[in-house]
Amino acid sequence: MYHAAMDASLIFRRTLAHRVAAALGLTLAAPITFVGCGAKVVVDTEDTGTGGAGGTSSSDVSSSGTTGPATSSSTGTTVCDGTGQPPSSFLACIPDIGESCPSKEEAYGAVAESLDICSCLRSVDVGPKPDPSGNGLCCYDVTIETTCAIGRPLLAENGPVVAPIEAAQRGWSEEALAPNLEGLSIEAREALAERWIRDGLFEHASVAAFSRLALALLAHGADESLVRAAHEAALDEVRHARLSLSLAAAYRGAPIAPRGLPEALSLPVGESLVDLAVGTVIEGAVGETLAAVLAAEQAERASDPAVRRVLTGIAEDEARHAELAFRVLAFTIAAGGAPIRDAVTQAFREAASRLPSPPPEPPLPAEVAAAHGHVARGDARAAFIRAMDEVVMPLGRALVEAA
Ligand SMILES: [Fe+2]
Ligand SMILES: [Fe+2]
Repeated sequence: MYHAAMDASLIFRRTLAHRVAAALGLTLAAPITFVGCGAKVVVDTEDTGTGGAGGTSSSDVSSSGTTGPATSSSTGTTVCDGTGQPPSSFLACIPDIGESCPSKEEAYGAVAESLDICSCLRSVDVGPKPDPSGNGLCCYDVTIETTCAIGRPLLAENGPVVAPIEAAQRGWSEEALAPNLEGLSIEAREALAERWIRDGLFEHASVAAFSRLALALLAHGADESLVRAAHEAALDEVRHARLSLSLAAAYRGAPIAPRGLPEALSLPVGESLVDLAVGTVIEGAVGETLAAVLAAEQAERASDPAVRRVLTGIAEDEARHAELAFRVLAFTIAAGGAPIRDAVTQAFREAASRLPSPPPEPPLPAEVAAAHGHVARGDARAAFIRAMDEVVMPLGRALVEAA
C-alpha cells in the first residue's frame, strides 16, 4: 500500500515537471538534492540523481529569547515546534482585560490566541507598551513563526491571512459530500472538521490571491491566455473552498461559511514587474507545486472515497496552477529582461533555503487522520522536499538558464 502510494506520487511529480517543461519549451536537468537540516534546507547543487533525500529529520532550530509554552486550541493557534519559517517580530495588541495591562508573562495566552491561523507565538519579548493606534489596547513586542503557507496564499506582512468563519451556509458548504463517519467520536469529527476548515479558508483566501494576480497581469500587459488562466484559477479556488468547507460541515454536522476578508482589498497587488515575478516564485512556483504534491500524496493515502475524490481533484487543479506560475515567470522575464531574470534567480535561491512548514496535525491516530486526508507532518515535510527536489528547483533552474 505504502509503496503503491509512493509510486503514484512519483508519477505525479514527474508528470508535473515534464508538463511544465513542455509548456515552456524547457529542458530539465537531474533533480537537485536537498538535505534536511533542522528547520533550514540546504541545497546541494551536485547532481546525484538520487531523486532527493528524505530530509525528515526533526528540527533542531535554535531560538533567541524566551520561548513560551506550546499552545494548541480549537481556534487554530498552532504549536511552535521549530519547523516554521525563520522567526519574525512585530507589535501584537490585545484588549485590556483587567484593571491594567497584563505583564508580558501573563499576556502570553491571550497574544497566542490573537494570532492568525498559521502563526505560532515563540515569545513575548517586551511590554506592555502603549497602543500606537490610540485604541487603548495592550501591546507587546513579540516573536512569531509563520507556518503552513502552501497553495497560493494571501500574504500580508506577517504571513498569510484568512477569513474568520461563522455557522452559516451561503453556498460555501452545500456540496453533497458524505465522508464515512462510522466509528468516529465527536472529538475526532471535530478535529477533522477543523482540519478541513483550515484548508477551506486557505482555498478561500487563494480566490483573492488569483484575482489580484489577474489584475497584475492586466496591468503589465500580459497575454490573453495568462489573464484568462488566472481568472479560471480563481474559480478553481472557489470550488476548492466549497469542497473543503463542505467536508468540514459534514464532519461537524453544521454549515460553515467564511466571513469577510478585508485584506483582499488592502494588500498591494504586484505593482512592479519585479514584485510580480518574485511574488510568483514564492506564492505560485513554490506554493502551488507543494500544494499539488501534498494533495496528491494525501489523496493516495486517503481511504475515505469522498475525501480521496476531493483531494485528487484539488491535486490536478493545483498542478495546473503551478504550471500557470511558471508561465507567468516566463512572461515577466521576457518583458523585463536581465533584471527580472536575476530577481527570479535570487527568489528561487531564497526559496531553496526556506522550506514552508507543513500543516499542523489533527490530534488523531495517524491512520485515522490519513484515511480522512491528512498526512503526518514528517510525511508532509518529506513530500515538500521531494517537490522542491524534483519539480520546483529543476524547473526554476531551467527557466533562468533558458532566458
Ligand atoms: Fe486550491
Ligand atoms: Fe491553487
